[in-house]
Amino acid sequence: MRFSTNVSALKPSATLAITARARKMRSEGRSIIDLSAGEPSFATPEVAAEGSAAAVRAGRTGYPPTPGFPELREGVTRYLVETSAHAPEDPAGVLVSAGVKQALFNLCFSLFGEGDEVLVPAPFWTSYLAIVELARATPVVVPTDFDEGFALTVDGLESMRTDSTRGLFLNSPSNPSGAVMDQDTLESICAWAGEHGIWILSDEIYRRLHYDGTPAPSVFDVEDRPEHVVAMDGMSKAFSMPGWRIGWAVGPPALIKKASDLQSQTTSAAAGPSQFAAAAVLASEGREKVIADFRAILDRRRRSAHAELQGIDGLEVPLPPGAIYLYGRIDGGAADVDSAEVAEALLQETGVACVPGEAFGTPGFLRLNFSVEDEILAQGAELLRDWFSQR
Ligand SMILES: Cc1ncc(COP(=O)(O)O)c(C=O)c1O
Repeated sequence: MRFSTNVSALKPSATLAITARARKMRSEGRSIIDLSAGEPSFATPEVAAEGSAAAVRAGRTGYPPTPGFPELREGVTRYLVETSAHAPEDPAGVLVSAGVKQALFNLCFSLFGEGDEVLVPAPFWTSYLAIVELARATPVVVPTDFDEGFALTVDGLESMRTDSTRGLFLNSPSNPSGAVMDQDTLESICAWAGEHGIWILSDEIYRRLHYDGTPAPSVFDVEDRPEHVVAMDGMSKAFSMPGWRIGWAVGPPALIKKASDLQSQTTSAAAGPSQFAAAAVLASEGREKVIADFRAILDRRRRSAHAELQGIDGLEVPLPPGAIYLYGRIDGGAADVDSAEVAEALLQETGVACVPGEAFGTPGFLRLNFSVEDEILAQGAELLRDWFSQR
């Protein structure tokens, strides 16, 4: 079939594709340990179901306002003010979308186009490149170093900057590496971007999931930040609500208005009942306890999976300071490692599904989701250990 040039080079999301394959193999009767998905295993907080059901019963089921119901836009604003030091206080700067993924698409499509370059530090979340390319802009990958904890530096960014550089993705804590950017680095990157008129798109979807007392600052913790900064977050990770499809972007109202205009021509708005669920969670008294409880469980799983995967010949797994993934390096980073092949062999021979580093711009790695149930995690880690020891 012949498709348009809009999508002729488009590939499906590598992570979703692997998860779908693992599910299919399971439906065919194979025993599968799925460590590939990017979702926590927890149930939706009860208050979300109540908030959503109450709104539906009250008949609030018409089309939502395109940028989101005021309850949620105001709720997001309050949440940011309560959890970061210098958050903007105007709900007009909030766009609610069907997940951070749609918010990111709306922003990239609104900001970038042909001839524009967007810096994407690697390893990166798999959809950044595709989204930039759909906007017909050019993603420029900025390498970082495993031995430096994948830390991003101004020097690294400056080395890839050209006169066409218009944007920069930040993602701290990072999917897939779990790397967390400290406040000083974030401040220096904000200053550098401001100096060169580069938009910062800060994907903060794992912002609340950090461990060991390591804070994960938001761009809204930087007081002296340039105007060209947008932060994104949502309900999928810290509140374990990925299926509700609620995310948001917060930035200058003029940009939010343009991105909302785009949304008005595509999806109209994020689903209303989901917006009321999210608003109920953000406004709830128990909100911070929900996050703290999730984080405590995730921390335990992170430590136990990390401990289980130490001392394996051919796989180095650092303890990540944030997010929900272990990112292991195969064979000491040898140039000839085909991690897609390794992931495929693992899946076929052990039933363990994980995502190869190719999906994140760093071949030679495997990403494992440590936020799955304890038992599944223990089984997966054991199978991995055995497989690598016999390899
Ligand atoms: C870094 C990152 N950004 C965005 C998303 C998408 O989030 P949402 O479910 O809000 O679309 C994910 C999901 O895995 C992610 O890991």
